[in-house]
Amino acid sequence: MRQRDGSTRRGRESFSDEPYLNANRISPKKTPDPLMRSKLKRIMRDYQCWRILLEIITYPHPTLRHKSKPIKRVDAELREVVREMFKLMYEAKGVGLAANQVDLPIRLFVANLEADPDKGEEMVFINPVVSMPKGTEENEEGCLSLPGLYGNVVRPKKVRINAYNMQGEEINADVEGLFSRVVQHETDHLDGVLFIDRMTESAKIEVEGELDMFETEFNSRRDTGGIPDNAAIAARLSEWEAKYC
Ligand code: NI
Repeated sequence: MRQRDGSTRRGRESFSDEPYLNANRISPKKTPDPLMRSKLKRIMRDYQCWRILLEIITYPHPTLRHKSKPIKRVDAELREVVREMFKLMYEAKGVGLAANQVDLPIRLFVANLEADPDKGEEMVFINPVVSMPKGTEENEEGCLSLPGLYGNVVRPKKVRINAYNMQGEEINADVEGLFSRVVQHETDHLDGVLFIDRMTESAKIEVEGELDMFETEFNSRRDTGGIPDNAAIAARLSEWEAKYC
């Protein structure tokens, strides 16, 4: 999810080296020469970038309509996916990003309500369940898969969120305000629901033209080979599901 923001400052890349310093692999920590150590760190970082190359997909990419299945295991690759998702989210100045927005069919989203790697808290929600809605609130939303498009959505004001974090610990929280809106918006993504589906009728009419433009752009990218056909996309999603769900 993205909030409208007047600032033009772009989020910096956030990279942490320590996840790659596995005791069973070549470790920059074990390299005595400082110059070699920094070179090795860079090579390892770039190698990881190359291995998990994700990008944010935009409407009407079919994976955005995919209903994600629960995750049954977390491994090193999934931890890399999460790091890459945070990086993409900050670059796009978002406060939340769901796995199917990076073309992955797994039930997970990341969030940082400050949209800034130097502020706020980085949160990962695995297999989230939203319950106990209370009250209603109308507010403007945006989405990293519909860049530049904003509209008002009415949602429950307070909800309970249950999920697991990357350490397998349970998350149980009663949330409101922006936090409530983000967990609802992102959990919707995992069910193949977009905020445009929940927009107020007047907001829907206002964005019709913009949605047509997204569709035209998507179709032209597909015609020129920039996006695989539906069968290829479905086959890839099935592979990921077989591995993690
Ligand atoms: Ni979104």
